[in-house]
Amino acid sequence: MTVPTGPIEPAELIARIPDFEQALALHRDQEPPTAINLSVAENVLVYEDSMQKRVFNEIELLPETYIQYKRPYGEDRLRQEVAALLSKAFEVDVAWGDVFGAGGVGSALECLAFALQDPPKTGEAGPPPLKEGDAVLLPAPYWQGFNWSFEQRPKLTCVPVPLPTEGPDRFRLTLDAIRDEYFRYYRVHGEYPRLLVLTNPQNPLGVNYGKQLLDEIYAWVLGETEMHIISDEIYAHSQVDGVRVPFTSALALEAYGRAWNRIHVVWGFAKDFGLSGFRTGFVVSKYGPVQRAMLGTSGIEEKKNPMSWFTPVDSLKHYVLGELLEATVNGPGAELYTSYAMRRYKELLSESFVKVRERLVTRGIEFVYTEGDNPAQFFWLDLTAYLGKRKEKEPCSPLPFTPPNEMDPDEQWLFEYLRCAPTEVTLLPGQTMHSPAPGFFRLCYTAYQPEVVCTAIDRVAKALALLK
Ligand SMILES: Cc1ncc(COP(=O)(O)O)c(C=O)c1O
Repeated sequence: MTVPTGPIEPAELIARIPDFEQALALHRDQEPPTAINLSVAENVLVYEDSMQKRVFNEIELLPETYIQYKRPYGEDRLRQEVAALLSKAFEVDVAWGDVFGAGGVGSALECLAFALQDPPKTGEAGPPPLKEGDAVLLPAPYWQGFNWSFEQRPKLTCVPVPLPTEGPDRFRLTLDAIRDEYFRYYRVHGEYPRLLVLTNPQNPLGVNYGKQLLDEIYAWVLGETEMHIISDEIYAHSQVDGVRVPFTSALALEAYGRAWNRIHVVWGFAKDFGLSGFRTGFVVSKYGPVQRAMLGTSGIEEKKNPMSWFTPVDSLKHYVLGELLEATVNGPGAELYTSYAMRRYKELLSESFVKVRERLVTRGIEFVYTEGDNPAQFFWLDLTAYLGKRKEKEPCSPLPFTPPNEMDPDEQWLFEYLRCAPTEVTLLPGQTMHSPAPGFFRLCYTAYQPEVVCTAIDRVAKALALLK
């Protein structure tokens, strides 16, 4: 038996990460300084202008109490502050006792996937618990991380609900699409799906789901099926000016009043606040099995440590996020920094959206968008016209990791063509996000300041023109 020698090479370490978007994020350090990576859902808009200046520069290095253990799902104060923040964003009172922290929304979702496999207690209303193998419906394209959160350890099965890729309802969610997949799955597998996951605002499409559509979907799911619903609202604050369909939280629907035991919401600091590296997310749920899973139980027959014990909001996060949540602008007692930052974020997001959109239009790059829709942090580029138009390209060093196997070879070629010099722009291929058709790419326009994104668009347009 050979003894392993030395640390593993950085390239091999990245090659071991199967989530393509995460691997692209971690590969950034290896790319030339001229490369622009718009594939990763990150948000730098509020960094310079406000967060560094008004919060991080003000905080002292670690008071002693933050060296020690804290509750892994969040101390009361943190949960209260997050509940207040969400109450404002969701326009509904969020009870702090229903808010439970974890190490990122990816982890919060995993906690939920385990918790929903626990039975309700006698006398507690709720559908039968989920079991390994049960199907989770996800309107597609969707964030590929759901597969890791639901499948890797909780052993549920993700089932895409394909959205139409052509016609007037192109990439629009409808109740029919969900219903069709629900019954198709039953016909093939003899069991009904047990969980519906909606991302609202949507990633990668950006759109808010209208209240009427949500009312219809929730009424059907809660009235006609035994599915739970998870509403991933991690982009809740990512709203531009002049949106025709406003954001409606699942917690603000009438359905929540009747079926609070089957509706669970997640939110985190990674996207709206741009704190992706902090890995802090929250479950909001009133459901007994979820609350017990998140808080832990010491009963004789079911001793369980809180789920977040394995993926905590640790003391360092308590400290830094606590400072962020309590900071005020313009002196003590004035407006909370978080309110100011989210107001400022909306302005910055709207400005960036307008600039980037204009540049896409001027450069003739197609994207899927209906006037008045919310974009959140994304453009969903339609590069289908360039599929199959291969030409000789400059060689560039191959990525040390491979895209997901199911990717269309023409989409993959286009991805590589744009990634390599002289273009050096990385977009996220739509098929990594289970896009039902090839040729769509997600561009995250908050990953850099708008001037840089516009430069990237110029370079992409130049490269695409050579394929015509
Ligand atoms: C819809 C959605 N949910 C969850 C996450 C993951 O959040 P976190 O980084 O807090 O785990 C992402 C990240 O891209 C996302 O897009």
